[in-house]
Amino acid sequence: MLKKFLTILGVKTFANYVRNWMAYPIIKFFKSGKYNRTIYQESFDMAVKDTYETLKNEITNSMVFIDKYDLRAYCVKRLREHLSEYKQTENNILCLEFGVWRGRSINYFSDELPEMKFIGFDSFHGIPEDWSGTGAPAGSFSAEGQIPTVNDNVKLQVGMIEETLPKFFEENLDVNIAFVHIDVDIYSTSKFILSNIKNRLLPGSIILFDDFCCFPGWKNGEYKALNEVFEREEYNYLGFGEMVSGITIK
Ligand SMILES: C[S@@+](CC[C@H](N)C(=O)[O-])C[C@H]1O[C@@H](n2cnc3c(N)ncnc32)[C@H](O)[C@@H]1O
Repeated sequence: MLKKFLTILGVKTFANYVRNWMAYPIIKFFKSGKYNRTIYQESFDMAVKDTYETLKNEITNSMVFIDKYDLRAYCVKRLREHLSEYKQTENNILCLEFGVWRGRSINYFSDELPEMKFIGFDSFHGIPEDWSGTGAPAGSFSAEGQIPTVNDNVKLQVGMIEETLPKFFEENLDVNIAFVHIDVDIYSTSKFILSNIKNRLLPGSIILFDDFCCFPGWKNGEYKALNEVFEREEYNYLGFGEMVSGITIK
């Protein structure tokens, strides 16, 4: 009787409204926080431990920074030290960046090293496939084809790296590479880049990997590509910082 009365007054409808549109979303929000902690955060925590266990020797014998910006600055410092040596023997020395997006990192490096020529490779349409072991699906980091403004010492090669890089080397036969920043996220393109640049590197050349370790898919990404293209005795680890790592060619 009371129920019927309340229904007539619209109270039941209101109660349903409160439950479905207010209480459930709030409960869902808190629950999802809990699930995130279990799967997302836990897998990142485990990946950091796994990175440390796997690369303990390398980590303890190289530089360890709190974030990627400190490692970037350290690479710049090391490059400056090498540049005078290179200049005595080599003329056509370039710095390459793979994965330019909005131009932030290439503008940082080219600002810091104004005497160097930089070439940036990007389609500006985002990653071509899902980046496994992360939450970034195909198309992430798209600049929607917009070419960023870059410093005067930067030239951009626009298109899929699998096409633009071989073409670039066909047209620039005699170039050597002092510095490479790999920030394309996915394994297949990283491996393609490493295979194509390998014979153009010099002793002391630096390769900086932006997504090397400390995330759930790390062993299937840049780390795997590095191991498949280079023998361990061909390089030394330079440093680690957050997810990034750098190596120098021996
Ligand atoms: C994470 S963003 C780069 C961010 C940039 N380095 C920075 O720090 O500001 C990754 C970029 O890689 C590019 N990319 C990934 N795979 C590519 C491929 N196979 N060919 C061309 N561009 C690619 C995407 O378009 C995207 O702009």
